[in-house]
Amino acid sequence: MIVTIDGPAGAGKSSVAKRLAKQLGFDFLDTGAMYRCVTLACLRRGISLDQVESVAELARDLKINLGPHCVELDGENVTEAIRTPKVTKSIQAIADNVQVRSILVNAQRNWGQGKDAVTEGRDQGTVAFPMAECKIFLTAGPEERARRRVAQLLELGVDVSFEEVLELQNQRDSQDTQRPEGGLRPAVDSIMVCTDGMSEDEVLDKLVQIVDQRRSVLLGLNRNEPLSNSQ
Ligand code: C5P
Repeated sequence: MIVTIDGPAGAGKSSVAKRLAKQLGFDFLDTGAMYRCVTLACLRRGISLDQVESVAELARDLKINLGPHCVELDGENVTEAIRTPKVTKSIQAIADNVQVRSILVNAQRNWGQGKDAVTEGRDQGTVAFPMAECKIFLTAGPEERARRRVAQLLELGVDVSFEEVLELQNQRDSQDTQRPEGGLRPAVDSIMVCTDGMSEDEVLDKLVQIVDQRRSVLLGLNRNEPLSNSQ
């Protein structure tokens, strides 16, 4: 069974998707980390981000290993290095590169073969796994997402203003949504979950409930209870 979780930056996908996979005993794939690895490799090797062919060639050769606790790029632990603001700011050109998307989507599909897995990103339900058995679109209002991000950064000792975070987040949302290939949008058969006002534990409970319900439908146990696509 493949469970896809897509949604905008700051909706809390990463941590809840990881916890969901753990609870279900499924493998977990953070596809944003793959785009981040390609971006980091370009920055380190001085490859211009808009050199579509050179970037794609590099993406093809990289050895990205996404373990449960760390991300490795060509054998080096880059778990923290891929999350710096420099990487986040530079990622859009890589995510817009259609050749890179195709290479990474193929790698995601190969990884998913024969697995029970939770995969998280922007295009998992629409492009990478259109036949996934359970698709979730996790979202929250822009202000709520920005508030959560400010709180996270404060915990890490980074002092940023709410307005600054909101503005950067709006920019990223609009770039992610407007991307013609692999853009952020809910799959028609996805279940929307708006996490406004919910704690992470409550979101996790909701997702477990959705997956269980979906499994029952797939097993034919619940034929008279079709899933609503708004939760
Ligand atoms: O999820 P995360 O914030 O790590 O993703 C970083 C960026 O990678 C996103 O803003 C998006 O531009 C890109 N991305 C993507 N497709 C995915 C996952 C991430 O384009 N499946």
